Amino acid sequence: MSSNREIKQDIRRLAEERDAIILAHNYQPDEIQELADITGDSLGLSIAASETSKKVIVFCGVYFMAESAAILSPEKTVLLPRIDAGCPLADSITPQELRKVKAQHPGVPVVTYVNSSADVKAESDICCTSANAVRVVQSLESGEVLLTPDRNLGKFIASQTDKTCHIWDGCCCIHDELPIEDLRRCIEAHPDAVVLAHPECQPQILALADHVLSTSGMLNHAGKSSEKKFIIATEMGLLYQLRRENPDKEFILASAKLLCRSMKLTTLKDVHRSLATMTPIITVPEEIRVPAKKALDRMLAVPRDN
Ligand code: 13P
Repeated sequence: MSSNREIKQDIRRLAEERDAIILAHNYQPDEIQELADITGDSLGLSIAASETSKKVIVFCGVYFMAESAAILSPEKTVLLPRIDAGCPLADSITPQELRKVKAQHPGVPVVTYVNSSADVKAESDICCTSANAVRVVQSLESGEVLLTPDRNLGKFIASQTDKTCHIWDGCCCIHDELPIEDLRRCIEAHPDAVVLAHPECQPQILALADHVLSTSGMLNHAGKSSEKKFIIATEMGLLYQLRRENPDKEFILASAKLLCRSMKLTTLKDVHRSLATMTPIITVPEEIRVPAKKALDRMLAVPRDN
């Protein structure tokens, strides 16, 4: 097999044969986003995984995302073309550690960001994504919450609510290490640009942003806005869709360091091999899947913005 065009055609044929849907996160390489049936943020892809009638889900993203699809749709076969695509943020808390913190705050609901392992979700009351985190926390009756595992998202939620927030000390190193000087330089060079930042960035970065949004939130905002120039403070993969959907607008990446290597692992050959061999399959043991699904279902039941 030679050209990308041929590989893509063969992937399409295999997807048809296997009754598969291809989902890709907004940070995936351009050619994977172009290939996918649906691209989206963590929330959008969880919903797509739970609603599809296809028998097979090919998840082009990182491990926790495919795991979420397997939790929501146990009757489906969930393939993750790159089994080694992990997420350091998801690895920053174990279920044992979470149990210890819960014991220190008895009765306080645990809100866990979907960037977490299935067994951590299973120890949680409700999940959230960057798109719905504030809404999820506001939906809870408790005046106190335990937020895991992202400290920056946790601090952002805390700034948007009156609730007492206990925050786990994990982070996404890509967003957390965005150098503020890089963003300042961009703002100085493009004073007319609107700054869109992901809530996984540090508070001092968010303080310079005009809007704090999830990846799909950024896509929606840029599409609807009459502004023509945007500085983007999130992983660079999002630029592909921002530029494709808004050819008349300019998008500037806040820093060249905004590159997630895990998200960039997936190649067209990996997707092809995965569909051809029907591996690697992601499964979650029932004793973890059932409580983890409860936390995801509670999140999905929180009313959406639009
Ligand atoms: P979104 O939910 O905004 O897509 O972000 C997911 C993610 O992994 C950010 O690092």
